[in-house]
Amino acid sequence: MQFETTWKDISDVAADAAIGILAAPAGDEALVSAAWRNRTAGLAAELADSGELSAKHQSTVLIHRPQSMAAAKLVLATCDFGDESGHGRIAEAAGAAWRRLRTTKVESVAVQAPTSRSAEEAVGEVIEGIAAADYEPDQYKTKDRSESKLKRVIVCLAGHEQSAARVAAVEDGRRTSAAIARGRTVARELANEPGNLLPPRVLAERATAAAGKAGLECEVLDQGQLERLGAGALLGVAQGSSEPPVMIVIRYRPDGGPATSDATRGSSEPVHLGLVGKAVSFDTGGISIKPSPDMHLMKYDMAGGAAMIGAMVALADLKPSIPVTAIVPSVENMPGGSAQRPGDVVTGLSGTTVEVLNTDAEGRLILADAITYAKGLGCNRLVDAATLTGAIVVALGHSYTGVFGNDSGWMERVLESAARAGERMWAMPPTTEYKQQLKSPIADLANIGTRWGGACSAAAFLTHFADGTPFVHLDIAGTAWLEKTLPHAPVGPSGVGVATLVRLALREATN
Ligand code: BES
Ligand code: MN
Ligand code: ZN
Repeated sequence: MQFETTWKDISDVAADAAIGILAAPAGDEALVSAAWRNRTAGLAAELADSGELSAKHQSTVLIHRPQSMAAAKLVLATCDFGDESGHGRIAEAAGAAWRRLRTTKVESVAVQAPTSRSAEEAVGEVIEGIAAADYEPDQYKTKDRSESKLKRVIVCLAGHEQSAARVAAVEDGRRTSAAIARGRTVARELANEPGNLLPPRVLAERATAAAGKAGLECEVLDQGQLERLGAGALLGVAQGSSEPPVMIVIRYRPDGGPATSDATRGSSEPVHLGLVGKAVSFDTGGISIKPSPDMHLMKYDMAGGAAMIGAMVALADLKPSIPVTAIVPSVENMPGGSAQRPGDVVTGLSGTTVEVLNTDAEGRLILADAITYAKGLGCNRLVDAATLTGAIVVALGHSYTGVFGNDSGWMERVLESAARAGERMWAMPPTTEYKQQLKSPIADLANIGTRWGGACSAAAFLTHFADGTPFVHLDIAGTAWLEKTLPHAPVGPSGVGVATLVRLALREATN
């Protein structure tokens, strides 16, 4: 897909369809501006008066052959910024508009960006919103696939200032969002694959191919290497499956060698960002087996790893000035004859011993070894994304990702990046209190806590392995998969995390 910008008015842009994003009015001003009244010879205002188009977020109306416009179809969509941080709402409105058009053979779409946000922000959101809305998870249908013909998106910036500085900022925003959009699609395509078609070995092949195409190094540690290293926590989870485990390592290094220092932290140590992603290709729970209803969804238990692979693909394009390394431990959690038993004690890569009281708390075990490995590679800022607990879904539902950390400054930077990226994320409490739940009479740690606060005790477990390194954990169990189709996105993998991590890496590179 190609993304372009122009300062022409949308009426004059040759495209198959047009999208107008109308900011929901704050007071009693009209939803439809004079410009839109003119472009539609009054029709848009009539539709607003009759209630067909409302001020509600993502309200849309389709107009055929708008009077004084080059495009044959026009969708108007309302964007309500509401009381949220503000980012991401234009993307949702643009996405909702595109979902009304995507099966109508439209190859090019022009989008008028609202002037209530800066041109570069509006451009970015339109690109990310339309690309995200264009995704359909139906790649295994042999007929009746819901195909999109979209090739070009042209964002129209009439009404926005056109100084050299603004033009440069817009171009930068366009590039960044185009890369995020691509990375997010990579993540969604991987997360949508069923367990039989994407075991760890195949995920590693796909990661290698994606990294290679992006010009990045990808190393895959196999079972033998993991055994020699002593990644016993990860290997314990993998041993019940006939599919061997892997640890995927994708490296991005800036051309100019090691990068800038992080001035705001008052340290001269250059930042090396480590992105750790849980990739359980399928989670049956192991011997502590899960109930069957909805077990099929555990194919998305590798969404954290998929997000990291997608983020690396995007960063390869954007070339931040700091090194970034993705570490993606991948296993299948099965209840085979050689599966680990509840009560088994394993020794992780760090030397910490863990009593595995529940084999379904497997994500934290593979992440423990991946976090240790990331530190060994020199990563000094860590973020992990993981579909880690059902408890986070109980706490936050499907709207917000739960964010945990051991360093308030680092956590703040991640949360700010999430807000900038338009991904809803929310700070959870410090993990110190919850660590008490993880005592074992026989080993250093137990892999589960008590019944309550399960997302917090899981985060406390991970924090133990980050040790003193600034670490943020994103529990994406509730946000990585949409249970039902939304106006701007289909049911299925959301690609959550990619945008936040890309924004974070870019931000760390600039200060
Ligand atoms: N992959 C699951 C968590 C999950 C649940 C992801 C629902 C997405 C949707 C994880 O491995 C798991 O099974 N966690 C257990 C932990 C428990 C045994 C302490 C859980 O949340 O029940
Ligand atoms: Mn599990
Ligand atoms: Zn799991």
